[in-house]
Amino acid sequence: MKTTKSFIRGTGAYLPSRVLSNEDLARMVDTSDEWIQERTGIRQRHIAADGELTSDLAVEAAKDALANAGISATDVDLIVLATTTPDQTFPATATAVQAKLGITTGAAFDVQAVCSGFLFAMATADSMLRQGLFKTALVIGAETFTRILDWSDRSTCVLFGDGSGAAVLQAAEGEDHEGVIAHHIRTDGTKSNLLYVDGGVSSTGTVGHVRMQGNQVFRHAVTNISSAIEHVLQQTGQTIEDVDWFVPHQANQRILNGVAKRLGLDESKVVSTVAMHGNTSAASIPLALHTAISDKRIKTGDLVLSEAMGGGFSWGASLFRL
Ligand code: UT7
Repeated sequence: MKTTKSFIRGTGAYLPSRVLSNEDLARMVDTSDEWIQERTGIRQRHIAADGELTSDLAVEAAKDALANAGISATDVDLIVLATTTPDQTFPATATAVQAKLGITTGAAFDVQAVCSGFLFAMATADSMLRQGLFKTALVIGAETFTRILDWSDRSTCVLFGDGSGAAVLQAAEGEDHEGVIAHHIRTDGTKSNLLYVDGGVSSTGTVGHVRMQGNQVFRHAVTNISSAIEHVLQQTGQTIEDVDWFVPHQANQRILNGVAKRLGLDESKVVSTVAMHGNTSAASIPLALHTAISDKRIKTGDLVLSEAMGGGFSWGASLFRL
């Protein structure tokens, strides 16, 4: 039976032009290209230019996604922007994106779930579209994450980068197995001390820097991600063999491999872009998704499984058909 569903009509992405290589980082802190590649798979990351804001990155990805969807900005009546690095404490960065795109109708707001942000934003937009509250949504993940890094802390500064990615979601009638199919999102606030920023508006009055117990996060990541994926598959009656493409959050190649192995997922189905931009937090899933759609690996009708894990802890998985 057909119901109102949301469909991904187009995707887009943007990476700032400045590239920081592992060799560059080795001149800044006690690290090496060999350590970074072996432990993370990362080769380089992009850094936003001075004065280039999260909203600027988001707008570039949004324009790309709208062009690929063949949809005009004025048709967008919802913007959900996932970010941990907003332009200002308020208003929501999504409203800056709305204004920069020349949109004066509908609603725009931010979602804060760190590296899982894009999946939380997709689940939010999908629910609103299915309820009939809006018709056409821009779901964006955008970060200037390098602005909250402590450049003297080698355990975190080598991991992250800046970037953005976007998807246009539109409401239409469809069958259960079409369009956006299912989400499973979770948080556990008792683990916040393992990955957090040591500043904030109501605590220190400063922006703060990222602090992470990397190996602890790693341990929880593989377990939580695998469990979220199992939930999504059970919910929909699909099996891992039905999945055409796995588009995970791009934090660490070893996590991608660990999850794929645990789920018995063929490694050739895993989309990995972490080498080229490091961990871009909420931007990483749409960046990877857009890369694999652009190079024609992911085709219309393919079933895509996505997952993420980040600060909070927050984590989740989504299943959708292009
Ligand atoms: O997206 C949000 C979620 N975040 C993640 O998913 C990140 C999850 N964690 C990870 O990706 C990994 O834990 C890291 C890449 C952060 C670290 O890899 P690891 O294999 O877990 O290393 P470790 O933290 O256990 O550290 C091993 C060693 C330590 O030295 P000792 O104590 O063995 O002498 C560190 O001090 O590596 C050292 N180390 C480094 N060495 C060179 C830590 N960072 C560096 C570095 N260069 N950049």
